[in-house]
Amino acid sequence: MSTVKVGIIGMGSIGAVHADAYRACPQAELAAICDVSSARLDSEARRLNISRRFTDYRELLRTGVDAVSVCVGNVLHREVAVAALKAGKHILLEKPMAMNAREAAAIIAAGHRARKIIQVGMVNRQRAEIQLAREYVATGLLGQIYHIHAMLIRRRGIPGLGGWFTTKSMSGGGPLIDLGVHWFDAAMHVSGLWKPTRVSAMNYAKFGAPLKGYKYVDMWAGPPKFNGVFDVEDYSTGFVRFGRQATMDFNICWAANAEERGFIEILGDKGGLRMLEGKPLTLLTEHQGRLANITPQYKDVNPFQVQAAKFIAASRGLGKPAATAGEGLTVMKLLDAVYRSSRLGKEVEL
Ligand SMILES: NC(=O)c1ccc[n+]([C@@H]2O[C@H](COP(=O)([O-])OP(=O)(O)OC[C@H]3O[C@@H](n4cnc5c(N)ncnc54)[C@H](O)[C@@H]3O)[C@@H](O)[C@H]2O)c1
Repeated sequence: MSTVKVGIIGMGSIGAVHADAYRACPQAELAAICDVSSARLDSEARRLNISRRFTDYRELLRTGVDAVSVCVGNVLHREVAVAALKAGKHILLEKPMAMNAREAAAIIAAGHRARKIIQVGMVNRQRAEIQLAREYVATGLLGQIYHIHAMLIRRRGIPGLGGWFTTKSMSGGGPLIDLGVHWFDAAMHVSGLWKPTRVSAMNYAKFGAPLKGYKYVDMWAGPPKFNGVFDVEDYSTGFVRFGRQATMDFNICWAANAEERGFIEILGDKGGLRMLEGKPLTLLTEHQGRLANITPQYKDVNPFQVQAAKFIAASRGLGKPAATAGEGLTVMKLLDAVYRSSRLGKEVEL
């Protein structure tokens, strides 16, 4: 196979990013796009100079594309992913993998039957700092990892208030499933701790629910729909056990009366890592008998381009998917457990 013919289903904000990433990949040919909104479809088709465009994704799946990016909203991930696999396409499936672990498992079963590649859109893994953090862990610079802080706080960052992001039946949840999915994946990917066993968590909804009363400066995926729905959390906090080996606390939030901040800190008995903070990766350690903070130099990459290139390579049989469906399922099980723990008001087992 010389080039891989790719289609994109869902040409919203992330579908457009996937299109640009494929166009930067010499082994990919962006062959067809699909969106139910013909206005959106036409403007993207013009921008990308693509003639094959569809408003029904099933028609796109009947074309000769080898692979598709699934970039529709969360509620459609399972349906579109399973249909694409059944049609014999490899899939790059945006995060969260699905609305819940049950749906994610159905996608995996379809992937096994079709013997096609499933790569989950955990794009942060492709950042240079995360790749380097993995190297540090692999070479033993952190020693034994025993705790992780995962923190992502927006002061007023609810996306598309009243729209699909804030409607549980369309999104599966609030910031936890929207952003926490990235943080949980990055934490487990870098630390190698892929066996969460117990969770105690609490979710709150303090800012979005009144809809009209929500004060904010900017809104992505806006404008707000004041006659829409807000029935998801806007703050999620909790504590995860990885057996007796390690723990993780997390605070993931779209809106709070708190300073904006975001980072993941991984604590080992020889070194600690601070990452995804919007500044260079830092290794906190000891050097020649002193405490030392090391900020290594590295070249930034476009993570969406690296993600697309790895998906295309995997589709050609040259390497593994950059984020596997099995890992996506583990993240979904952890998210499900957080929601369950909050609902029941007690620690739950995964
Ligand atoms: N990896 C990341 O960093 C990242 C960032 C943003 C969004 N996402 C994920 O990408 C997905 C889409 O998010 P978005 O922000 O682009 O949303 P969006 O609402 O901007 O785009 C979704 C698009 O899908 C289209 N659509 C809806 N139903 C369709 C159907 N049946 N067939 C074809 N098209 C259909 C909509 O018209 C819309 O243009 C979500 O799952 C989201 O979690 C990932």
